[in-house]
Amino acid sequence: MNKPRVLIVSEDRLTQKSLYELICQHGYEAGITHSVKDVMAYLDEKICHVILADIAGADDIEILKLIREKGYPSEIITMASHNNIEDDLDGVAVDCLIRPVEDKKIISSIEKALSRVSLGEAKPSFLNKLLHKEETFYDLVGQSPSFKEIYSLIDRISSSKATILLRGESGTGKRMVARAIHKADKKRRDKPFMEISCGALPREIIESELFGHTKGSFTGAINERKGRFELAHGGTVLLDDIDSFSLDLQVKLLRVLQHKEFERVGDHKTIKVDVRFVVSTNQDLEKAIMDKKFREDLYYRLNVISINIPPLRSRKDDLPLLVNHFMSLYSKENHKKIKSVSDDTMQILMNYDWPGNIRELENIIERAVILDMDGVIGSDDLPELLVGNVMASLDTKINNAAASDDLSLT
Ligand SMILES: Nc1ncnc2c1ncn2[C@@H]1O[C@H](COP(=O)(O)OP(=O)(O)OP(=O)(O)O)[C@@H](O)[C@H]1O
Ligand SMILES: [Mg+2]
Repeated sequence: MNKPRVLIVSEDRLTQKSLYELICQHGYEAGITHSVKDVMAYLDEKICHVILADIAGADDIEILKLIREKGYPSEIITMASHNNIEDDLDGVAVDCLIRPVEDKKIISSIEKALSRVSLGEAKPSFLNKLLHKEETFYDLVGQSPSFKEIYSLIDRISSSKATILLRGESGTGKRMVARAIHKADKKRRDKPFMEISCGALPREIIESELFGHTKGSFTGAINERKGRFELAHGGTVLLDDIDSFSLDLQVKLLRVLQHKEFERVGDHKTIKVDVRFVVSTNQDLEKAIMDKKFREDLYYRLNVISINIPPLRSRKDDLPLLVNHFMSLYSKENHKKIKSVSDDTMQILMNYDWPGNIRELENIIERAVILDMDGVIGSDDLPELLVGNVMASLDTKINNAAASDDLSLT
């Protein structure tokens, strides 16, 4: 049987120390985090049977509720210096202890909590469940450490309203990550996910598209119309390629991001919306600020929580998983039976640099599935240019290695 683990949550070092000793003396394992905010990250790493948490305020209670909802296999005991929080914690905590509290009471509370949890086979945590080999994280495929970190971050920010900045080269999956953020938020997932390609909207109509307009506000405005921000009410807005917004629009956007309010074109009435903004770019925003193409105040507003999505070439350990994923996706779509990818083809794919990232890989696999005739994807199913490119770079590497060997011999 596993030794029960109790997680102590307190920012006070003395409390941490005395609880740690008490818990270990009674034969339990103990862990420590400094605040309730850190608990989820801890639970993603380790199974914990009881969470013994010092409550500092309403935020802490919200996080504990979230932990409950997410189904971590842990029971919660809270400690606070006043008893008016008990009602808020109804159904969340097994016990709400009011300080000062005797050691005896703490231990009996832990025992009560432990009687409710299974100590046998350790249940995987919520995130570990999602990361189980066959599963994807809201359609995202990838198990590399950098991607697991992204999943964990999405999980932690899912219920907040904070604007998220997604950075990454073209084709790395910014749109997919934005969708995952939307789907991970259970209050928003059934509401609209509004994707706005900032660079693709013609300058003349962009304001009326985003903010809406009143009847007659400009030539062609025959009827009153809601803008995209209004249509996305309750949901998530992805502003793709934010760097392509003009400076004057950036000012207006700053207000929307800060106060979630704006006016329709031709109207003075202020409209308030409840939307979560996710903003993406594949550009160097710091350089754009220096070039006076991007407003610094907007940048600081956006950069509160940013997610950097790594290029495919720096997470090649995910490549086989992605190849398999696209192979089965496009086999189904094209009614083909593809059994595997030959070893030398996988070697070629692993040695390629993927400047177009996952989008390029997806296109290559789709093409190979369509062209394949024998059920095994071989190098003849790949574009000649790609194979040639890999072979040339391998030749260069071999020549360089041989040259340095020659040098080291001399
Ligand atoms: N982790 C992933 N798992 C599965 N498919 C992915 C993943 N990331 C990206 N893709 C696929 O790769 C393609 C490109 O992804 P996406 O459109 O999200 O990239 P992007 O970063 O927004 O690109 P751009 O900068 O060009 O807009 C999509 O077809 C998507 O389905
Ligand atoms: Mg995109």
